[in-house]
Amino acid sequence: MSKYIVEDPRKVTTHRLIEMKAKGDKIAMLTAYDYTMASIVDAAGVDAILVGDSASNVMAGNVTTLPITLDQMIYHAKSVVRAVKRALVVADMPFGTYQVNADEAVKNAIRIMKETHADALKLEGGEEILPSVRKILDAGIPIMGHLGLMPQSINKFGTYAVRAKDEEEANKLMKDAKLLEEAGCFAVVLEKIPASLAKRVAESLSIPIIGIGAGGDVDGQVLVCTDMLGMSGEFSPRFLRRYANLSDVICDAVGNYVNDVKTRDFPNEKEQY
Ligand code: KIV
Repeated sequence: MSKYIVEDPRKVTTHRLIEMKAKGDKIAMLTAYDYTMASIVDAAGVDAILVGDSASNVMAGNVTTLPITLDQMIYHAKSVVRAVKRALVVADMPFGTYQVNADEAVKNAIRIMKETHADALKLEGGEEILPSVRKILDAGIPIMGHLGLMPQSINKFGTYAVRAKDEEEANKLMKDAKLLEEAGCFAVVLEKIPASLAKRVAESLSIPIIGIGAGGDVDGQVLVCTDMLGMSGEFSPRFLRRYANLSDVICDAVGNYVNDVKTRDFPNEKEQY
C-alpha cells in the first residue's frame, strides 16, 4: 500500500476530474505502459494514467510516435488496466486510426475500449478531427483532447520546439480548445506552449487542462514516467523535473549482480535448495 495520502480511494472518473477543476484541486497524471509500472504509479496516488503513444519511443525505441500500431497500443493499455485500481486510465489512439474518417475512427475507438477496458481515449488535434471526435463521443466514449505540440504531427511541424508562440497559432489553439469542450471532451492536454497562453485556455474552459511544458497555471500536469524517473538518458527539456535517477540505480544493481555472479558470490548457500 502506498505511504502517500490518497484522500479519496474511489476509482477516479472523468466526472471527478471535472469536479477537481471546479474545486481548484490539481490533477496529477503520469504515463505508464506496462503492468508493473502502472501498479506502482497507481498505488502512489496519481489521479490519471496515460497509456501514451510515447510507448513508441520509450518502449519500442522508435524515433517518433508514428510507427506504433493499434494492436501494440491495445497490448499496452490492457496491461495497464489490469494493474490499476484507482486512477482513470486514458489510452492514446495511435497515428492513422482516427484521421482518415469518422467511421473508421469510431470503429477503432470501440475496438480499444472493448479489448482494453480503458476508461477514456486521447486524440491529437482540433477542428480538423472534430467529425471523428463527435462520432466517438456519440458512441459514449470519453475523449481527452491534445493540442499544442502534437507529436503525431512532427513531420508537419519539423521540430519539437515550443508551439503557438505567434498570435495566429495561439488563436487557433484557443479556438480548437473551445471546440473540443463544446463537442463534449472531458479534458484537454496542452503540450509545450507558452505558460501565459495555457493559463488563458484554462481560465476560458470549464473542463480540466492538463499541461506538459505549459506552466503551472493549468489544472493538472502530465509527465512521461520514464523521464521523471530519470530513465531516459540525456533527454532533459526545460519542463522536465527528475524525481529519481533510476538509470543509475538500475545500472548499480545490475553491475553488482554481474560482479556477484562472476565472483561466485551469488547464489550463496541460503539462496539455493
Ligand atoms: O504519449 C504521450 O506520452 C503523451 C504525453 C506527452 C501527453 O501524449
